Amino acid sequence: MKNDRFLRACRQEKTDTVPVWYMRQAGRYQPEYREIRKKYSLIEITTIPDVCAEVTMLPVQQLGVDAAILFSDIMVPVGAIGLPFEIKSGVGPVIETPIRTLDDVNRLHDFDMEQDLGYVVETIQILNRELDVPLIGFSGAPFTLASYMVEGGPSRNHLKTKAMMYRAPEVWEALMARLEKTIVHYLEGQVKAGAQALQIFDSWVGTLSPLDYKRYVLPAVKRIFAGIQHLDVPKIYFGVGTGELLTQFPETGADVIGIDWRVPLSEAGKRVGDNVAIQGNLDPAVLLAPWPEIEQRAKTIIDQGKQHPGHIFNLGHGVFPDVEVDTLRRLTEFIHEYGRTSL
Ligand code: CP3
Repeated sequence: MKNDRFLRACRQEKTDTVPVWYMRQAGRYQPEYREIRKKYSLIEITTIPDVCAEVTMLPVQQLGVDAAILFSDIMVPVGAIGLPFEIKSGVGPVIETPIRTLDDVNRLHDFDMEQDLGYVVETIQILNRELDVPLIGFSGAPFTLASYMVEGGPSRNHLKTKAMMYRAPEVWEALMARLEKTIVHYLEGQVKAGAQALQIFDSWVGTLSPLDYKRYVLPAVKRIFAGIQHLDVPKIYFGVGTGELLTQFPETGADVIGIDWRVPLSEAGKRVGDNVAIQGNLDPAVLLAPWPEIEQRAKTIIDQGKQHPGHIFNLGHGVFPDVEVDTLRRLTEFIHEYGRTSL
């Protein structure tokens, strides 16, 4: 049987040790990934199933993590519904023709997994045969996707996105509805192909006040989780800088809440309550510290995580390109070892 400690922790069941995986565990910190990127762009990788599967499996083989995450990008389904984008290295997703009006929203088309992203289905099928750990499928959340679609690229203040929320709520709602439908079909397609868990990345939602989150975003997120409930796989919801939103997150319908490093895990656990598992939350910058410091911080996270029903060790955000592969390998080993003794 496969290593299922990640799925068990998501379901708040007992595990032999603390499961661990890392956001952006496939990426530029790996020499092998950098080699593959000399030949293909990031988006090209996602369209070639055997290469994409290889990149997805690399961290599992190299680090010994307890889950794989499909190698892709949150923008992939956005391209599929008719909004072209580019991923600029060191910048992020860039869109030449951002969404500003109701006409822009109405021009987006319906999403069809088989037709639009058949290669993703094929990649997942390969991974299903090859992996001995669960595969996490994922999608961007409506706010985070909308922020790129409206701003036209990464943004500090998300002013254009917020202006649309406040000044043109009908356009905002239409955009949320369109994304909602796309995201549900995309996640459904990934599970049908063989993904065994799902993570919804709402990376930039921490830019909102609790009131605006509740009014403009939470309803759409709730409908998405309700729309994928029948799939019967664990569902994770993650964002950065979400400390003051955490108390609302269990309402989304997620089974696991991802926590960034700004809130101590024990405090985060209190904010989300005992009915959801938690995932996190080492500051990814700490991976650049000397080993004893990393170990100390990891211990604290495990000690606090064991007070909560269901904890999956992860970073508070993605791995930086400057991290050594050996550091993550050693950390993974340490989590498994210390996690065993501390349970
Ligand atoms: O290993 C994994 O985690 C799976 C792959 C993955 C990527 N992007 C590959 C990628 C996942 C889950 C994502 C999601 C994603 N993409 C998010 C949500 C998670 C998060 O980090 O908050 C966001 C906001 C994006 C948008 C995006 N794509 C950004 C901000 C960047 C970084 C730009 C840069 O150069 O620093 C990307 C590019 C990207 N997506 C890389 C990777 C491995 C960088 C490496 C490359 O260009 O080859």
